[in-house]
Amino acid sequence: MATATMEAPQLAVNKRAPTAEDTQIHQTHHGGFRAMSGEYNYWCDTIEGKIPKDLSGTFFRNGPGRMSVGNDQFGHWFDGDGMVSAITFHDGKVHYKNRFVRTPKYVKETQVGHIAFRGFGTMRHGGALKNMLRPPANPANTNVVYHGNKLLALYEGGHPFELDPNTLNTVGEYFYDGQLGVQNTFSAHGKVHPKTGNFFNFGIGFTGFSRQGLKSKVDFYKVSPNGRLVKKVALPVKGSLPFLHDFAITENHAVIVVSSIVMEGMLKCALGIKTIADSTVFDDRQPAQVIVLDLNTLEEVERFELSPMGVIHFGNAWEEKGDIIFELIRFNDFGLFQALKNVISAPKVEGAEFIRCNINLKQATMKIDSLDMPNSEFPTWNNQYTGLKNRYTYSVSTLDNGTGTYFNSVLKRDQQTGDVKLKDFGPGKFTTEAIYIPSSERIGEDDGYVSSVIYDADKGLSEIAVLDAKDLSDIARVKLSHHIPHGFHGHYAPDVFL
Ligand SMILES: [Fe+2]
Repeated sequence: MATATMEAPQLAVNKRAPTAEDTQIHQTHHGGFRAMSGEYNYWCDTIEGKIPKDLSGTFFRNGPGRMSVGNDQFGHWFDGDGMVSAITFHDGKVHYKNRFVRTPKYVKETQVGHIAFRGFGTMRHGGALKNMLRPPANPANTNVVYHGNKLLALYEGGHPFELDPNTLNTVGEYFYDGQLGVQNTFSAHGKVHPKTGNFFNFGIGFTGFSRQGLKSKVDFYKVSPNGRLVKKVALPVKGSLPFLHDFAITENHAVIVVSSIVMEGMLKCALGIKTIADSTVFDDRQPAQVIVLDLNTLEEVERFELSPMGVIHFGNAWEEKGDIIFELIRFNDFGLFQALKNVISAPKVEGAEFIRCNINLKQATMKIDSLDMPNSEFPTWNNQYTGLKNRYTYSVSTLDNGTGTYFNSVLKRDQQTGDVKLKDFGPGKFTTEAIYIPSSERIGEDDGYVSSVIYDADKGLSEIAVLDAKDLSDIARVKLSHHIPHGFHGHYAPDVFL
């Protein structure tokens, strides 16, 4: 069921001329964290290069659109209010629109002009009593997916929010016709199975208390191609409440890695003394737990432990000669998490080691290979190959190009030859996740395009990069009249939403 539309005061809706703030020179990526001051809806008229006719559809992106309200600064990047952009490619033209997600948090805080909700790393005013037993508010800021004719803004600590794909107006919090319980969470990294059209996702929860603290579980969901949540299971996990952000699917299995990033001392969180962010640690004594599920039945088929490691994002996964192979960005310490907490002022944000894990279930052995894509984050691939063996993998990287304070380049690896191509956006240009967009006419795995939002620190403005997926060369650059704050994730739908 969907709740009624929630509205907040309207902001500007037209294209505007750059302001003095936009055009002041910034030396680093930090200016890209300032708030989006308007909501826009316009055809882009400044395009370098030419938009190919076979680039058709809508590239949605989500991310924190503002990190403060009134004089109050949110305490963590993960608490910024979700703002969704829709970049629509149609007949050689590009249309841009954006809307903040009208969550209860956004609506109320916009009305009162100060922080009114507790967050992942944010406390309400008034001390422990005002925060006690209050779960973090859902800013709907992490990802967006179009599946089962629904456009959903996602955040792992709560429910999805349904948006109108044409207008980006918020329809309301989404419960999959009541199948998603009030206590269930729904991660931002669900995966659409390209062969069945099913959408798989998970959520973290707890089932009670033990002497060691909270008893944790992973809920796992299967959503049919027409958008019905048809099956869910609860999987108990050992140890402290895990920070579980992403997972992988093969053609027949889900691979869940409960890493060594955990939330400890949750009693202090519950009492309103400590934030969840301050309770999240890398516990190098806690082994990573790998859980393998059958995608058809959702039954657990394997569970084993790996050496302690931190994982936030996964690459693709597939099955080969009975082995399960999955790729991920592996962290051996907590450095990135610390940088994310203070991301607005962190001197440098970079990725980590992109690895491939090859698990032989019969022999109970695992082999790990480096993918030679250093400093990587936000791994992506042609989603038509999700769960299937793919040849090409993409990521973004922090390159030392003179202003290497944040992701500023795209890497492409050919799994067959090991060849790695690099696209350096140049000094003062920063990006986040670059996604693969298939050609509407050609079907080869890298016959399409790679697109990402670039923040030009010198101008204080953003642009949409369209690269040739074959060699990462520039095809077009769509220059916007404003910036888009650094975001998290995006989703491409072949539909032309305007
Ligand atoms: Fe993510």
